[in-house]
Amino acid sequence: MIFAGRHVVVGASGSGKSTTAEWILARILAERRRARRRTKAVVFDCYGEIRPKGSTYVNERRELARAVLDGRYPIVSLGKWPDLSPLDHVRDLSLLLDEAWRFMGPSSCHESLEAIFCGGRHLDQDWIVATQYPAQLHPSVLANCNHAWIHPLQHHEHVRAIERGLSITLKGRTWKPAPGRPEGSAATVPLHWARAGAHDFLAAAAAEV
Ligand SMILES: Nc1ncnc2c1ncn2[C@@H]1O[C@H](COP(=O)(O)OP(=O)(O)OP(=O)(O)O)[C@@H](O)[C@H]1O
Ligand SMILES: [Mg+2]
Repeated sequence: MIFAGRHVVVGASGSGKSTTAEWILARILAERRRARRRTKAVVFDCYGEIRPKGSTYVNERRELARAVLDGRYPIVSLGKWPDLSPLDHVRDLSLLLDEAWRFMGPSSCHESLEAIFCGGRHLDQDWIVATQYPAQLHPSVLANCNHAWIHPLQHHEHVRAIERGLSITLKGRTWKPAPGRPEGSAATVPLHWARAGAHDFLAAAAAEV
């Protein structure tokens, strides 16, 4: 499977979103390393749970801009500001946005973020957006993602946002508990949805040869 791309991770509190998001990022980085492609990982995680090895930690936008300028990747931002403007022109960016509802609403999103969601493909930018409130996601996230990792969602409005945004139904779907999960944990193995597109096209082309 090709992990490089645009991922959304959703699920109720404690369902395993951050763990899944970190797992996806690790695979994207490994894939890029194998392909000898440059990568510039930037993680927004205000709880500081996601800590790639050798990270530079920043607390405010000026520090982020400085770390980007100096190329001190991977960068972990503990800040909550919605304007990611130092990043929207960065080529080969792998961006992880945990608790993404802090950065956008259904009808508001800083233009720098929207540029990454909508136009990032041309700069070889990957992104992973994780949230427990998919109804609060800006529509450009679900419209532009090509993978969704769905843990159980608690409220109907969030289930509906995912079903509508991805044109799928979650009715009747069941989740397996995550293996080796701590006692009493809600952590599950997410359902994986992938948009038909480049990968299917390549598979179809290969089958015809
Ligand atoms: N696949 C897994 N295997 C074992 N443990 C897991 C797995 N996924 C998650 N966990 C554990 O379950 C707990 C909750 O996971 P995580 O923090 O990723 O959930 P979350 O959805 O991001 O939670 P929150 O809503 O608090 O941000 C953590 O202790 C994590 O280590
Ligand atoms: Mg989390």
